[in-house]
Amino acid sequence: MKTNMDMNHTHGEDMDGVTDPFSQDTTGLPDALAPQIVVLQHDDVLELRAEQVRKRIGEATVKMLAYNRSIPGPTLKVAQGSEVTVHFTNQTDLETTVHWHGLRLDNRFDGVPTGAHQGMMAPVPIGGSFTYRVRFPDPGVYWYHPHLREDYTQELGLYAPIIVVPTDAAYWPPVNRELTLTLDDILLEEGKIAPFSRTLSDHTAMGRFGNVMLVNGETSPQLSLSQGEVVRLYLVNTANVRVFNVRLPGARMKLVGSDNGRVEREEFVEEVLLSPSERTIVDVFFEHAGQYLLEHHTPERTYPLATVSVEAQPAQPSFAQAFFTLRTSAELEALRAKIAAEADRQPDKTLAIVAEMPGMEHHAGGHHPEPIEWEDTMEEMNRMSTPQNMFWKLVDGATGAANHDIDWSFTDGDQVKVRIVNAADSDHPMQHPIHFHGQRFLVLSRDGSSNENLAWKDTVLVRAGETVDILVDMSNPGAWMVHCHIAEHLESGMMFTYHVQERGV
Ligand code: C2O
Ligand code: CU
Repeated sequence: MKTNMDMNHTHGEDMDGVTDPFSQDTTGLPDALAPQIVVLQHDDVLELRAEQVRKRIGEATVKMLAYNRSIPGPTLKVAQGSEVTVHFTNQTDLETTVHWHGLRLDNRFDGVPTGAHQGMMAPVPIGGSFTYRVRFPDPGVYWYHPHLREDYTQELGLYAPIIVVPTDAAYWPPVNRELTLTLDDILLEEGKIAPFSRTLSDHTAMGRFGNVMLVNGETSPQLSLSQGEVVRLYLVNTANVRVFNVRLPGARMKLVGSDNGRVEREEFVEEVLLSPSERTIVDVFFEHAGQYLLEHHTPERTYPLATVSVEAQPAQPSFAQAFFTLRTSAELEALRAKIAAEADRQPDKTLAIVAEMPGMEHHAGGHHPEPIEWEDTMEEMNRMSTPQNMFWKLVDGATGAANHDIDWSFTDGDQVKVRIVNAADSDHPMQHPIHFHGQRFLVLSRDGSSNENLAWKDTVLVRAGETVDILVDMSNPGAWMVHCHIAEHLESGMMFTYHVQERGV
């Protein structure tokens, strides 16, 4: 006779010591489809369904999760100022929500679940559905993903971009072609996706780094272009923790946009850095025919991400002349003048980032940590870390309150200067991408030196040991989250809710 203990044991420890794992079985699952672009007009209704799929990653065939069966899910292309209805159905293997990352939408559709979070909606149960009304006030590239167990769901494929086409036709420079690229990684072990426990996130110390790079869900996609093309790349970092530093040797790359629209000054760049959830928009000029490599370049190594083959057949029309014109954003230049005084005043709020690993030695850093952890340097310790033995905290400077005990309240129209201090001497100093829901902000300075190229942002990378000042434009009433966008850090509670009241209420 089987005792309860036996059953728990067989059930509990059947995947590399991971307790109560999510199934990895691909039997009977539909094959993943190629991602589509879905153009939505104002008031259109999108049927969006999250479900389990079977997908090939290199040599492996694995169970993943997908929106409308593709990874990434459908890229939504919408007009600035429009609104759409999304009828969402959950056919995955856990309850979930959809969060519309970076959009200043109506608070009740932000997709933050009640429960552990002070959220706005009940999680959508397996088999359940929810109808979102989503609006797109700002041009640029955004994305959507779940807001429950992102460590599992995002890693398994629930993410997709949103392109918001500006009302002003001259907002972006002219290009021959636009491409959206999600940058991701996934952790494969012996032909399987490294298992996840249903009950407890792991890898919470440094986050779950992958060992296989994925661009638009593929291991080494090929892009074909024509000689002389100017191509706009909308880059979205959908990884759990990996910071990408993107290069395209041999091609000219021009930075034109960031999280929420244009940059103040277009500039030629050799590389662009994106932490999880950040977006970067670059225009790339392929002057010569031939083979190019899109690369992720760190101080230690270079990963090929995608190949670009450029045919000798010249592109028509040529936008080379416009490409070499560097424009400035009148809106952001005007803001620079307006916010000059903000740079010198004391911050309204201070947030300290603190790691606590009780009983562990100090693992990295001391007083001169690496500004960015590019790789998992302590695999065993990281694998064993959970929200029960590793504590990530956002600490309010004024009250000492941490994470969900932080209680910030503002009024619509407030310009709130927040100083984020990533202490070099905590138990595990590392970088953190700090994300504000519901609003947009400007990065004023890093370690006291002012930002030379403003852009509206919703996520800022704070390197180990760094102090970053941001100015948050409180423009959207509601209860909104602030959190680290490393999926495992969010699961460890590195988040809180702030309130924006309507003016005159
Ligand atoms: Cu993409 Cu709460 O975040
Ligand atoms: Cu973090």
